[in-house]
Amino acid sequence: MYIKHLSLANFRNYEHAEVELGRGVNLFVGENGHGKTNLVEAIGYLSTLRSHRVAGYESLIRIKQNSASIRAMAHHNDRDVLVEYEMNRGSANRAAINKNQLTRPRDILGSVISVTFAPEDVELVRGNPSDRRDFIDDLLVQLTPRFAGVIADYERVLKQRNTLLRTAKQTGAKGTALSTLDAWDEQLVKFGSEIIAGRVALVNKLKPFLEESYAAIALARVAVEVLVKSSIATAQISFDDDAELDSMLIEDAAAISKIYHDKLREIRVKELERGITLVGPHRDDLVFLLNELSAKTQSSSGETWSLALALRLASLNLLRQDGRAGDPVLILDDVFATLDAGRRSRLANLVASNEQVLITAAVADDVPSELHAKVFTVTNGVVQHG
Ligand SMILES: Nc1ncnc2c1ncn2[C@@H]1O[C@H](COP(=O)(O)OP(=O)(O)OP(=O)(O)O)[C@@H](O)[C@H]1O
Ligand SMILES: [Mg+2]
Repeated sequence: MYIKHLSLANFRNYEHAEVELGRGVNLFVGENGHGKTNLVEAIGYLSTLRSHRVAGYESLIRIKQNSASIRAMAHHNDRDVLVEYEMNRGSANRAAINKNQLTRPRDILGSVISVTFAPEDVELVRGNPSDRRDFIDDLLVQLTPRFAGVIADYERVLKQRNTLLRTAKQTGAKGTALSTLDAWDEQLVKFGSEIIAGRVALVNKLKPFLEESYAAIALARVAVEVLVKSSIATAQISFDDDAELDSMLIEDAAAISKIYHDKLREIRVKELERGITLVGPHRDDLVFLLNELSAKTQSSSGETWSLALALRLASLNLLRQDGRAGDPVLILDDVFATLDAGRRSRLANLVASNEQVLITAAVADDVPSELHAKVFTVTNGVVQHG
């Protein structure tokens, strides 16, 4: 797919922008802080309803404004689809497809498919478990939009279950509170097992692409392993989000829900003492191994970069193969400046034929010349072609 046209209103530092994008490579050049990342972030936001830079959406709305909008004309299979998203301070966000207002804004997920690679992505390797959970969930939702609903349901149940546990901790667990807890357990396990199963299946699909992408970018044949580590499969319950967890290898949601139920029963006393839900997909992690060594703690900085980039390229290839939108839009935000010459030209070769690529750079010369197809300059929130 590709985006033909992007309109922004009161998004970040853009008061208003109309950008006619080309099929193929689009390069955005401009000085630091002028709005290059903001522009591509808007497209990334439409595909995940998450920014690669901040949690929440309020900081995406232009300062002193109450609402922002992103509008993209997406094209795939000879069809144009107009995707619109409006963010409002203090009131609900709204979304529309082809001018039809959606009851649930999250239903726009799946209409714009994109993959972003940015310097922050080293956090996928080195950062917190939540960075890796966001990575795998964003990919899951883009590949199978139905998961957006499952994740939202899980988060809702988790919140309510935590409230109940907190109250029980303060007031002492009594009969009715405990039977309400049983009901929440049912829901938690139902949605949570689906998420865990979805992540395990996805990781298994991603693995072959990952090894291939890693070899293509690092020019090294390295055994790349990726595993879902789950709190529900771990004997020792830890209260630390960074604790060592055991692998979950099962893809079957029914089998996972049995393990999950047993675990909840086993740790109920601990949860009542703590007043919080201790196991589930919200506590899980991914682990990457390069030649059997943990990439998080043992890889060099070059290897970390190669792995982060390989994760994005593998996502791109998997979405292209299994998704319904053809080539995802590939966004390379500020990455060429930090790559060495070899990786620069290999990356250029790998991405040049993608249906649409959006690249940002402060210095145009950092970007290999074969990627200078359509060049824009970005100056103080104004985008100009040429
Ligand atoms: N909500 C907002 N309202 C107004 N301005 C904002 C808002 N959010 C961010 N900005 C401004 O946008 C600018 C950053 O833009 P952006 O990150 O796109 O820069 P960039 O061109 O990618 O720069 P670099 O080359 O350093 O990556 C900052 O000056 C910041 O103050
Ligand atoms: Mg930037």
